[in-house]
Amino acid sequence: MQDTSFAIHPGNKKQLKDTPYRDIGSFEAYEQNGSFIEIKCEQGYVNIVLYREDIIRVVMNPFQKPIMTSSFALITGPRDVFFQVQEERDHLYITSNNLKMMIQKSPLRINVFSIDDRLLVGESERGMGFNEQKEVICFKDMQENDHFYGFGEKTSFLDKRGEKMTMWNSDVYAPHNPEIDALYESIPYFMTLRDGNAHGIFFDNTYKTVFDMKSEQDCYSFWAEGGQIDYFVLAGPTPKDVLEQYTTLTGRMPIPPKWALGYHQSRYSYETEQEVRELAATFMEKGIPVDAIYLDIHYMDGYRVFTFDLERFPNPKQLISDLKKSGIKVVPIVDPGVKEDPEYQTYQEGIYGNHFCKYMDGAIYHGDVWPGNSAFPDFTKTKTREWWGEKHRFYTDLGIEGIWNDMNEPAVFNETKTMDVKVMHGNDGNPKTHREMHNVYGLLMGEATYNALKQQNKGNRPFLLTRAGYAGVQRYGAVWTGDNRSFWEHLAMALPMCMNLGISGVPFTGPDVGGFAHDATGELLARWTQFGVFTPYFRNHSGLDTVRQEPWSFGETIENVVKKYIQLRYKWLPHLYTLFYKASETGIPVMRPLLMEYPNDPNTFNLSDQFLIGENVIIAPILSPTTNHRIVYLPEGNWYDYWTNKLYEGNAHIMAEASLDTLPIFVKEGSILSHGKYIRNTSESLEKMEIHIYKTENGSSKYRLYDDDGKTFEYENGAYLMKEFRCHFHSKTITINMEDLHSVYQPSWRTLEFHLHGVAEEIEVIFNEKKIEIDLDEQKGTAIFQASI
Ligand code: GLC
Repeated sequence: MQDTSFAIHPGNKKQLKDTPYRDIGSFEAYEQNGSFIEIKCEQGYVNIVLYREDIIRVVMNPFQKPIMTSSFALITGPRDVFFQVQEERDHLYITSNNLKMMIQKSPLRINVFSIDDRLLVGESERGMGFNEQKEVICFKDMQENDHFYGFGEKTSFLDKRGEKMTMWNSDVYAPHNPEIDALYESIPYFMTLRDGNAHGIFFDNTYKTVFDMKSEQDCYSFWAEGGQIDYFVLAGPTPKDVLEQYTTLTGRMPIPPKWALGYHQSRYSYETEQEVRELAATFMEKGIPVDAIYLDIHYMDGYRVFTFDLERFPNPKQLISDLKKSGIKVVPIVDPGVKEDPEYQTYQEGIYGNHFCKYMDGAIYHGDVWPGNSAFPDFTKTKTREWWGEKHRFYTDLGIEGIWNDMNEPAVFNETKTMDVKVMHGNDGNPKTHREMHNVYGLLMGEATYNALKQQNKGNRPFLLTRAGYAGVQRYGAVWTGDNRSFWEHLAMALPMCMNLGISGVPFTGPDVGGFAHDATGELLARWTQFGVFTPYFRNHSGLDTVRQEPWSFGETIENVVKKYIQLRYKWLPHLYTLFYKASETGIPVMRPLLMEYPNDPNTFNLSDQFLIGENVIIAPILSPTTNHRIVYLPEGNWYDYWTNKLYEGNAHIMAEASLDTLPIFVKEGSILSHGKYIRNTSESLEKMEIHIYKTENGSSKYRLYDDDGKTFEYENGAYLMKEFRCHFHSKTITINMEDLHSVYQPSWRTLEFHLHGVAEEIEVIFNEKKIEIDLDEQKGTAIFQASI
């Protein structure tokens, strides 16, 4: 009935629950215990903790002293921070080297300022409150020029001002559209950009939460269905600082194995061993690189996890090992639902080992998913995570190094789409309802899976793809944006969605390239693949009964375009890998909204149809059919067209021409990038590294190229290479210096080929203090020379 006009029948109007909020009232007393300030209010308690000089935590509990320990997101506790507390008649002041708090006593209102007295987070009218249903809420002042980003995985445009968003992990097969306020991931965190400065708020509450940046003109709020108000203020002041601060708290992505950054091919489902072999062979024959092939639910025996259907897949070990010889990894899907079947070992173990989620009275919760009636592991228990992890030996013994976690919201085929919220989670002796734990179910499944793979992978880096998660999910896996459709609108929406996931600390993201549900067309696949080249995660996936979507499915013209762009991904891998390394060190995403580099430029604030790779490369995909041009915004500075070397003046909107085989790419003058060439996939050794330098009139630039074996964790012991390239441009001279900052790893490539762009006439090139002969191509505007490493 919800799908017809009945949905708007006047009699349907919901009676709004009357939920008056009670303010926590006035300050009564405070105490300082180490780095904690404990405030007693008329109606509850507030703790303030300085986590770092630039990060403070505020915890309000109306009913009892704040609980400071039970976070699933945090990987770190407070540091020893120097700060001062000063009490005056009407206010309490707390000052660190980086932040100031002015706490008004009556009623209690908390205002956080930067050290240079910029108000970051203010409470004027209303502060924190709660109601009889034990919901908690917090109101903050909103300024006219505030822009909001992050919030995890959300539909619609980049800037979330004017939106109301819910955090409740939800399996949404209905077409994703701007109205859908909750998807698979819940990351209750956002970044505010105000007058060129940024700060962040992370609301660490695992209940259903709602962020309302819409209902009022001068105030926004965040609300939770239960628990405490527990939020961090991250001082910024740049967007990158906020990312560094947020990921200091919630962790960073480990560097993925290189194969995880290649092109991945998936479908629901490649149903037999024969089909998978033929698929791999077609990639090889056609010379289209591929690093991974996915096995969706049909590989299993009646959708029982940790099994193979031996009729469809008679010899999985042989299949996996044969594909590995061609450098292709097999990634099987693993869902949490365990089929209720007394003769199925995993179900037996789950029952006898007490691993499944239960009601309070001890009855196991069963819900309907792909295998039919199923039980769900209680990942809040360490013992269960270990059991589940150990089960993965089934895959790792076959040589599998990557796992795809799906349906881990958890999704259940019923009205509420998930488990009964009254189900209890053991949580290692601190039992909690599913209502409280729902949003962390996927995160904990990811933790169980990633840690087990890491142990079982014989020193090789594992790869995990997950659909659901909570703040901190980046520690375990890549996130894809779930069941999109082969709609041009969904191609367009994937840009802001992935950019906001990046701002939310998750750098390894991407949508199903080509679209999952509905039928793709050749043109859509071509344009989507062009975009996919520059999404951190690059997988073509399509649904049951949709038209085939492999690169060759739409005839030769499309195949050629798709092939060219998959090859382009491999060309850009050294640069992307370097950016992944940086993300793992700093939390700053690979794929960035322009505001991250140009936070003072209003043209970037809601720029949702183009993005940056790293600091200086603009990607502007074509997002509509039969379109051969588009407007591209180039911020200040001069920008090269990647394909033609034509130079454009920035601070302007330009018209870019883009025939079907052209993805508009612009590189900022002065930039230095690296390129490689892989024919089949990342199992090959790279022979030559290309360094591309984009000339500018005057000035200097620097690039640090990172490389390691791309497979093991040896980089953690220092086995990596860091080469620094410094360029100085001065009229007709380019001076290039190359220096090994760290060289414990010996790369396969021994030759460096320098490409100087924007050089249409003889110039002087000095490389490591020697004048170098260059090979000039005036027409192309490039000069080339080689050097050994
Ligand atoms: C879910 C996933 C999709 C997968 C399907 C079958 O819809 O989101 O990617 O193919 O389940 O497993």
